[in-house]
Amino acid sequence: MKASGAGAEPEAVWLKVTGRQLYVEDRARAYARVLQAWPVTAPWARAVVEGLDPAPALALPGVLAVLTAADVPGDNHIGPVRHDEPVFPQEVTYHSQAVAWVLGESREAARAGAAAVAVRYRPLEAVVDLEEAIRRQRFLAPPLTVQRGEVEAALAAAPRRLSGSLRLGAQEHFYLETQASLAVPAADGRCLVIASTQHPAEVQAMVARVLGRPRAEVVVEAPPLGGGFGGKESQANLFAAVAAVGAARTGRPVLVRLDRRLDSRLTGKRHPMLARFTCGFDPDGRLLALDVTLYADAGFSLDLSEAVLLRALVHIDNAYWIPHFRATGYLVRTDKPSQTAFRGFGGPQGMVVGEEVLDRVARAVGQPAEAVRARNFYRPDQETPYGQPVGEAGRLRELWDTLAADAGLAERRRAAAAFNAAHPHRKRGVAMTPVKFGISFNAGFLNQAGALVAIYRDGSVRLVHGGVEMGQGVYTKVRQLVADTLGLDPATVVTGPTRTDHIPNTSATAASTGTDLNGQAALRAARRLRARLARVAAGLLGCDPGAVRFAGGRVGPAGGRDLPWAAVVEAAYLARIPLWAAGFYRTPGLSWDPGQARGRPFAYFALGAALAEVEVDGRTGEYTLRAVDILHDAGRPLHPAVDRGQVEGGFLQGVGWLTREEVVWDGEGRLLTPGASTYKLPTLADLPAEFRVRFLPPGPGPAAVAGSKAVGEPPFMLAIAVREALKEAVAAFGPGPEAVELPVPATPEAVYQALETRRRRLPAEEAATDGHHLD
Ligand code: MTE
Ligand code: HPA
Ligand code: MOS
Repeated sequence: MKASGAGAEPEAVWLKVTGRQLYVEDRARAYARVLQAWPVTAPWARAVVEGLDPAPALALPGVLAVLTAADVPGDNHIGPVRHDEPVFPQEVTYHSQAVAWVLGESREAARAGAAAVAVRYRPLEAVVDLEEAIRRQRFLAPPLTVQRGEVEAALAAAPRRLSGSLRLGAQEHFYLETQASLAVPAADGRCLVIASTQHPAEVQAMVARVLGRPRAEVVVEAPPLGGGFGGKESQANLFAAVAAVGAARTGRPVLVRLDRRLDSRLTGKRHPMLARFTCGFDPDGRLLALDVTLYADAGFSLDLSEAVLLRALVHIDNAYWIPHFRATGYLVRTDKPSQTAFRGFGGPQGMVVGEEVLDRVARAVGQPAEAVRARNFYRPDQETPYGQPVGEAGRLRELWDTLAADAGLAERRRAAAAFNAAHPHRKRGVAMTPVKFGISFNAGFLNQAGALVAIYRDGSVRLVHGGVEMGQGVYTKVRQLVADTLGLDPATVVTGPTRTDHIPNTSATAASTGTDLNGQAALRAARRLRARLARVAAGLLGCDPGAVRFAGGRVGPAGGRDLPWAAVVEAAYLARIPLWAAGFYRTPGLSWDPGQARGRPFAYFALGAALAEVEVDGRTGEYTLRAVDILHDAGRPLHPAVDRGQVEGGFLQGVGWLTREEVVWDGEGRLLTPGASTYKLPTLADLPAEFRVRFLPPGPGPAAVAGSKAVGEPPFMLAIAVREALKEAVAAFGPGPEAVELPVPATPEAVYQALETRRRRLPAEEAATDGHHLD
């Protein structure tokens, strides 16, 4: 059976849907005498570990070892930027943190052992709440500020002003494959680690660090992941480190594989944030000045939080020209797991704040939100507050008008108003929001990638690069680029594995750059090989190498005699021409001055817009997504089916964050929502009843590899249209120019609270008679 679609059957997808994909846990079955690991978790969010007695655990059958800091041959501290995360802590800094790990012959044995380890804790006062931590000035790093112009003066001079705040909740990654690492000891202290990670090079660095060995002695392989979503950009490190320490200590393979509840309790999530803002505007809703303070709840350690916060700050402007702008961000330390990368990497948080401001301004001036949004759009000759020319993002205007016309925005709004007038208990809301998302790692040096292409004598091709496949299709897309360059069926090109001994010093597959970077590197390698083979073919065919074409598995000048690909390959081999080549790519033209927070951090912007229509039930706050229309700019899509999947999946994941998913910690830092029974994920039932996704025809502006644009994260933020539509519907329950206060997530309960507030503004008799109506 073969999948159909743009020429290539996506091999990784096919393995996945037929159940043949081997995940880390499956890979462990190839090894004998694998030990299973289970953590000893602390019952406090903050405590000193005063004593730890492994004896009761070791007395149990099947328990082999209890790993503690004493077993770490190298450094006990890891972390992607700052090494502030102890593998085995002396002081507990979040609830359920692992203070030791038990190795057993089975998972049951390890689990029983973990329960038997006797730990003496001295509890300390914990600070879990973001606002409490802000009051106590618990900051992990100095504040970051992005600014332009004279904010105070412009705010003072503005004809109108408003202030407000917005709370944004966390989000659980809920990748279907939980965190997993298998460490296999080799001779001389060397080590192979098979890890479910987006960042094998960093896992390699962390494992080398805890083992006290050079990185060259550690090989890390990242098989295709059962989802990452940012949750495995840095947070696979700890589990790989534990597995490696266990393997070093016992000389046996060690598998660390969390179950869902442990994974939820032990790993970081999307950063919850609190925004406070003041905005100055004119009577038409034109933005004159914006001052935002953003507090990010970073958890106990730095992790990637600085980069996340920076990305949040540089996405507040979204699609809008704000002449005087200041955004200051604080990284607040709370006694919780270290919050981490999650699709959009702070961008969604920043953008939601920007769109909230636009909505409040529109309400304040009493004009339709989409008109106020469009009025504030960047012109192509303008710059972002951090000094990057917006350039082709000026195309947003065209994209916006196209979507508004195609989706019938004006009629839909009229129809919603008519419906609302006729239905006291049900209200519809229609809203449209844009997305402008910067593509590139915002730490410039990370924007590099490598690839290796090997051609074997039978003409088959192997491709390895730094990209990790996690369902987003990077293997499919990069393979297709190589196949197209060599004129081959993509099925001829085998991809992977992604391993640190194949390509060294790779960046995480993240920031939506996986295909942009690895695709360019692979293209360069493939082009080198093509040039060599063209010379060989030209010699055999007696033509000019420049005239040789590669297509359909044939090699030769257009219209002339040609040769089978494999014959040219064999001839090259016999002529002792190297049949493998490396390619390297670094994104050109990036600049960033961290002191000034200015420069050109992004190679380009990904653009899109979404129109959402919702219906809210005034008696319960429950709502349905009636229709969503999306117009997204993926440039010239490399694989339309994959890109459509990214847009639909990213959008729905965004809807989950904004409306359904509620991560709850109690005052003691205990996670109350550690599994699918307590954490409400969006399901197929949450899909819009009508869901139309279209791609913008490619434009003349800059794009990435083969005219495509990154599509992994940007669609997530299209879901902001749903939140805005909910506010429109809530506003229809009562009069007034006041803001609709709606937290993230806008659960049915939150929507009900908001519409109650609104309803209370109705004249008394209307509110009273209202209660007697049905739909
Ligand atoms: N799609 C699937 N199916 N699974 C994932 O884990 N991760 C997202 C996005 N799409 C993810 C996904 C995130 S957070 C990023 S940064 C990009 O994919 C990474 O892959 P890319 O750079 O190749 O787009
Ligand atoms: N996205 C994802 N990961 C990162 C980034 C980014 O912008 N910067 C540094 N690590
Ligand atoms: Mo994605 S949050 O950059 O892994």
